[in-house]
Amino acid sequence: MFEFKVLAECPETGARAGEFVTPHGVIPTPVFMPVGTLATVKAMSPDELKELGASIILSNTYHLWLRPGPELVEKAGGLHGFMNWDRPILTDSGGFQVFSLSSLNQITEEGVHFRSHLNGAPLFLSPELSMDIQEKLGADIAMCFDQCLKLPATREEAERATELTLKWAGRCKTAHSRSDQALFGIVQGGLFDDLRSRCADELTRLDFNGYGIGGLSVGETAQEMYACLDKLTPLLPRTKPRYLMGVGRPDNLLEGVARGVDMFDCVMPTRDGRTGTVHSSRGKYSIKASRFAEDFGPLDPDCSCYACTHFSRAYIRHLFRCGEILASRLISWHNLHFLVGLMRGARAAILDGTFPEFKARALSLMGGSYL
Ligand code: GUN
Ligand code: ZN
Repeated sequence: MFEFKVLAECPETGARAGEFVTPHGVIPTPVFMPVGTLATVKAMSPDELKELGASIILSNTYHLWLRPGPELVEKAGGLHGFMNWDRPILTDSGGFQVFSLSSLNQITEEGVHFRSHLNGAPLFLSPELSMDIQEKLGADIAMCFDQCLKLPATREEAERATELTLKWAGRCKTAHSRSDQALFGIVQGGLFDDLRSRCADELTRLDFNGYGIGGLSVGETAQEMYACLDKLTPLLPRTKPRYLMGVGRPDNLLEGVARGVDMFDCVMPTRDGRTGTVHSSRGKYSIKASRFAEDFGPLDPDCSCYACTHFSRAYIRHLFRCGEILASRLISWHNLHFLVGLMRGARAAILDGTFPEFKARALSLMGGSYL
């Protein structure tokens, strides 16, 4: 269980194609994980997610802890039974949401005091509590409780967050007791190479089933993120999966894969789906634009998703302008299909030795640097 097999490596870049074995099936990597924060990928049914090729989804400890509570999810047979999804699931630890959603708070070595984003009630989350909740949720992969630093951060702030994240990782490892659930460490360290490197070394010593790369895509430039990955991924064990948390854009995914990242997640495809933003092989656009009023072509000429094979831009634009929920569903469907498919394509290219060409062609079609 939880073996990660590297099946092929790209000789020109750091890209690799692999397989991660979990209790609910094998995850082919590189992979994009749709986000199902509240035990649902917004607007999509589990069957639809399978149809578009999702092999794993992500859910959130923080949200499910507040509502409906881990005990209820456990009674329903864990997240898999509760939401009727029988493929792998990963739960994030709450270490990000506590800092981004709630009104903070006080960070102590013991844990984090904060107020609920729902009703302002005072709450406390710690490494031990996060592990307990994640074991009750019963995902295939749990994440360590970490401190995600907002950028820009001073050296001193980054040092403190890194040290705390390392102490908490040790406590998570001790508290975690389910042998049918993988546990991933999370590398923090801001944009300081030596802190990232120290964090990677210490986490590797603790021997996790995989390694999250946190604290990126939080205000730094894409070039800064890539430079951080260039230095960091070679320090992580070759035979464990690497997960770049909360990223993101299609160009970020391709550049991450080229630097040896195996897993990604982001709310972008579903959030943008609900606001009419389409991500396509030819770049990103808003379906609201008047130039689509009489455009009877598909959302994306290169896409084989349900939305693109059944409906026109003119129709989906009409639905969107009328506030019809089918518009949100169709654009979310397409956006997810695009990102899941982009990683499926990258994997096939790594396996047949053509990843550099695949990446160059995809980026050039999107319009160079994707906006
Ligand atoms: N999601 C995006 N970034 C992060 C991070 O740094 N930590 C955690 N736990 N989740 C994230
Ligand atoms: Zn499509």
